[in-house]
Amino acid sequence: MLHRIQPQMKNQAQPNNQTQVQVKANPNGESMNQLTQMSSCTERAFTVLRNSDLFAALPELSLRKIAAMMIEKNYPAGTTLFRSGENSTGNLSLIAEGAVSISVESHEQKETVLATLAKGEIFGEMSFLDEAPHSATVKTVFATRVFILTKEDARRVLKEFPVLLNSLLVEMVRRLRQCNRKVVGISYRPMQERVASAMVGLVEDRGVRQREGGSLRVYIRNRPTQQFLAEMAGTTRESVSRTLAIWGREGWLKTEGRNFVLFEEDRLRQMAA
Ligand code: CMP
Repeated sequence: MLHRIQPQMKNQAQPNNQTQVQVKANPNGESMNQLTQMSSCTERAFTVLRNSDLFAALPELSLRKIAAMMIEKNYPAGTTLFRSGENSTGNLSLIAEGAVSISVESHEQKETVLATLAKGEIFGEMSFLDEAPHSATVKTVFATRVFILTKEDARRVLKEFPVLLNSLLVEMVRRLRQCNRKVVGISYRPMQERVASAMVGLVEDRGVRQREGGSLRVYIRNRPTQQFLAEMAGTTRESVSRTLAIWGREGWLKTEGRNFVLFEEDRLRQMAA
């Protein structure tokens, strides 16, 4: 089984919380502490893979094989992992915890957030596939933990498990659809519709539906800031604040700690449509 602990990655921001490697080695060259850390890292990677739409189609043994190749990294909130136009290592990253924003900058230096990606989602797949520089800037929104597959391992994995190519394609189509919706939203819609469109995007990205007392609720955990929502919606923070207040009064949505709770998903969808 192949285990690696924290090699230095070119073009990647350095994490704040790297897995510690113990120094004292046993006769096989690996200390018990090191072995325990390796196996628990693999176990964590396995859990994330199993819960990721992209990898869920694979049987347990295959997932364990992939998990053993993964490298775990932690980054604080606000860390730029790479910038649009930067050369890529070709590595694939799978989010285990937290979220990243995907953004591009216009010529006037205005930043537009294209998407937020959360637990179970991957990034870096575009430059992995076409070997071109990164298409967007990736920045952590919260403290974020990722599992990385190096370019070489990712190639091996796709060769051994070609069903993943299909899942990857479906995921890329989903992102394209979301982007299309956003382009239309930004150009023509009034304020509330834009914010609704951004909110529906969040629901699709990481909404969790729960039936409570006969009614359906959607939870968006680790909700983004109003500024972030404003960037997603192509409007101002003040407009987002006003819209959320209106929806709060109407009983469509409430803010609960670090979460949004949506009570009227259908109405938001109608508004965003
Ligand atoms: P890559 O081009 O290697 O680096 C930037 C990453 O951002 C890209 O791979 C994708 O993983 C991700 N990305 C780029 N555009 C979008 C988008 N429209 N929606 C979601 N993710 C994106």
